[in-house]
This record gives sequence, structure tokens and C-alpha cells, in this order.
Amino acid sequence: MNKFTNIAIVGLGQIGNYLYNELNNKKKEIEIKTGKKIKIVAISAKNKNKKRKFKIDKKIFYSDPLIIFKSKKIDILFESIGQSDGISKKIVETALKNKVNVITPNKALIAKHGDYLAKLAEKNNVNLEFEASVAGGIPILRAIKEGLATNKINKVYGILNGTTNYILTEMEKTGENFDKVLKKAQLLGYAEPGNPKLDLNGFDAFAKIRILSALSFNTKISKNRCIMEGIENIRLDDIKIASQLGLRVKLLGISEIINGQLFETVHPCLVSKNTYIGNVNGVMNAVITEGKPVGESILQGEGAGPGPTSSSLLSDLLSILRGKTKYPFGIPSNKRKSIKSFNNDNYTNSLYLRFEVNDKQGVLLLITNRLAKFKISVKRIIQTPDKKNKKATIVIITHKTTEINAKSCLSIFKKNKNILKFPILIRLYN
Ligand SMILES: NC(=O)c1ccc[n+]([C@@H]2O[C@H](COP(=O)([O-])OP(=O)(O)OC[C@H]3O[C@@H](n4cnc5c(N)ncnc54)[C@H](OP(=O)(O)O)[C@@H]3O)[C@@H](O)[C@H]2O)c1
Repeated sequence: MNKFTNIAIVGLGQIGNYLYNELNNKKKEIEIKTGKKIKIVAISAKNKNKKRKFKIDKKIFYSDPLIIFKSKKIDILFESIGQSDGISKKIVETALKNKVNVITPNKALIAKHGDYLAKLAEKNNVNLEFEASVAGGIPILRAIKEGLATNKINKVYGILNGTTNYILTEMEKTGENFDKVLKKAQLLGYAEPGNPKLDLNGFDAFAKIRILSALSFNTKISKNRCIMEGIENIRLDDIKIASQLGLRVKLLGISEIINGQLFETVHPCLVSKNTYIGNVNGVMNAVITEGKPVGESILQGEGAGPGPTSSSLLSDLLSILRGKTKYPFGIPSNKRKSIKSFNNDNYTNSLYLRFEVNDKQGVLLLITNRLAKFKISVKRIIQTPDKKNKKATIVIITHKTTEINAKSCLSIFKKNKNILKFPILIRLYN
């Protein structure tokens, strides 16, 4: 490296623009901590004239990020555009092939192409760091790769999406419905104004779970079909009933080795208000690992936003400036194995089932008989009549049953004229 470590930032949106400002403000601190002087020599975004939160130096602006490599010597490139393919993949690929270290918060890219890009980084003897891609400011990837390096981790789970956790928390706190709270989240910048779908449908948390699994279990990023559900179907009624039962709805990402097979999922869970995870509220994220011999470790913090994300991006930068090249996933790519996936049908949980029914004799019996036919035993029933409309709400908490059993059992209710809507199902966690 020259006297200066030359840096390029590609993407100057929420993250890239904040990062640009942070790097300029913290140059001295970075030099003290690493002995290296950094210099931002190239920046790129789509629109040169867009008004940005922090002032940028237009003399080093490139409208086409791929040109940067031809005109400047770059040592470290930050990719903060955010696509899983397209220009994001192209720029990272080109950087690595040109022996440029890469830092990215882009979970979609890493979850999809992480194996290939890691191999490319190793082949070219440069770093590919992506701490900010999972749980924003929480240094969970480095904790797994370094702090917990010699432990055998068998489970990693947690709240990995701040937007959905904020929405669920706020619905319980204020009694406002999903749409109203979503609008509030968008105004506060917690949810994307245009398209919050990837947060709400569980996709964002799922990409993070795939990255966590690969690091925790030293495996290739899985491509298995998994149970992925978001919070779009969670109704205020369910949050209120759950609350009366001492439970809270949380969108959990879970990755676990069961009988030597990998099980990954993201879905809403009912957790006890007395548990740790049940009290991680608002935009907070938390990641829990279970390993041997260390036992349970928990890291909690802000999971999104430019501040926490930049904290992780700078941690990656310092790691690169301080030391030698590291394996992106902690061990050499050729030592990371593919792993068989656990059959989703055998996933087992207690269930919360809510039925909207005609308030007629025999309907409850019909439901419980159907459950019994599938050997699903009932732990608790709460029936609330709505006399005026001759309807009733029946909530059933079951003992543990398998996913396949639950699915087969519930399918018949689609057709029954006394069951007014297909039942709501929320799995209980532990
Ligand atoms: N926002 C968060 O809280 C957060 C948290 C953790 C991780 N992340 C990750 O950080 C990454 C960036 O997110 P963000 O919220 O900063 O996104 P964003 O605000 O949408 O910014 C995207 C940036 O990419 C630029 N861009 C788009 N196409 C380009 C192209 N062809 N060439 C050069 N630049 C291009 C845009 O340019 P213009 O500005 O000119 O339009 C914009 O500056 C994503 O991977 C995201 O998943 C974000």
C-alpha cells in the first residue's frame, strides 16, 4: 500500500453518504488506531447533482463506478448500492479481481453470491468483509468468526429486522392497526417509503439468517426451500389476545442443526413476555448463539440505520487496515461443506390458532374433533362470543405438533361454511 490507503465508496444513499462523512471525520482516530492514513479518492452514485445530507467532493465523483478502477489506484472499496445482482455484483467482482479489498453492508448480495465472492477474494488474496450485512451495528459476525472461533455452535437465532420489530412493538403499545403503524414507521425512516415489502415478508431477515448459518456452522450458504413468513398477516386482534396470555409476537430468524441437518426459518413467533427475546422491543435487534463449550451468548443493539451500519463498516475497515488477509467466512472456502437440509414437515411447535366462526352449537366440537383426528392435543381454549353478529372467536393453544400435521389438519377449514375465515396460525417459540 502507498502512503495513503485509497478508498472508494460506491453508493451514496442513506448508508454511503453517512459513511463518507464518518470517514472524513474519523481520519485521525483511524490513523491512531491502525497507523494507516486513509484518503477517499473516488465516490459514485447514480445522480451527481442529487442533494445529499452531507456535502460530497464532486471532483472525485464517478457516474459509472466501473470506470474508477481504470483511473485510480484503489485499496479498499465500499459497495453500498444494495442490489443482489446487477451493478452491485459487478462492482464487487471487478474489485476483487483487481485485488481490491471490499467492504459491503449488502446482505442480499452476500446471501446470494457470498460463496462465489469469498472464493474470488481468497484467490486474489484480498479481504471481503460484510459485518454490516447482519444486524446493523451489532458485531455478531466478528464475534462468531473470532470471539467464538473454537466453539461448536449448534443454534443461532434472534430478531434480525428492526422495521418489523418496531411495527409489532408499536401495535401492542398503542393498539393501532398494522397499516397505521407501518405509515408511522415509514415517516420515522424505519421502513422504506416506497417498497417496505422485503422487510415485512421476512426476506431481509432470511438473507441474514443464511449468512449467520454459513458462519456459525462453517457451511456453504444454503439454497434450501425454507419456511419464510413475514408479519403482513399479523392482526391487532392477535397481538391483543397474545398479550392477555402473557405472550408477544416477534419475527424470529432461526438457524439450527437438528440431527446433523440444517434447519433455517423466519416466521412470526409467540414468545413469553418473561423471556429475554420477548423484551427486545422497538427497532432493537438481538442475536443469540448457543455453542459448546461457551453456552449461550447474546448480543443486542440497533439493527439498522446509517449510524449503527457505519459503525460496523468502520469496524471492517479497521480490521483490514490492521492486519493480514482473512477468510471471508472464517475458514477457507474449500473447507466449508454443503449440508443436508432438515425436512420442514418435521418442524415441531405448539400452535396458536384463531378461528372466526358462526356462533352455532357444534362448531367448537367440529374444530376439536378435527384436531384430535391429527393427534393435535389442546392445551387451552378461549371462546369469545360476538352475540350481536351471531359470531364467535375461538382461540386454541395446542400442544406440540409437526408442521405437516398442522397443515393437513387446517386445510379442511377452507371449505367449512361455519368457519368464516381460514384460521390464523402463529407458532409458539419453545
Ligand atoms: N439503510 C439501512 O438502514 C441499512 C442497514 C443495513 C444495511 N443496509 C444495506 O446498505 C446498502 C445500501 O442501503 P441504503 O439504504 O444506503 O440504500 P439507498 O439509500 O437506496 O442508496 C443506494 C445508493 O446507490 C446508488 N446507486 C444506485 N444505482 C447505482 C449505480 N448504477 N451506480 C452507482 N450508484 C448507484 C444510489 O444513487 P443516487 O443516490 O444517486 O440515487 C444511492 O446513492 C444496502 O445493501 C442495504 O441492504 C442498509
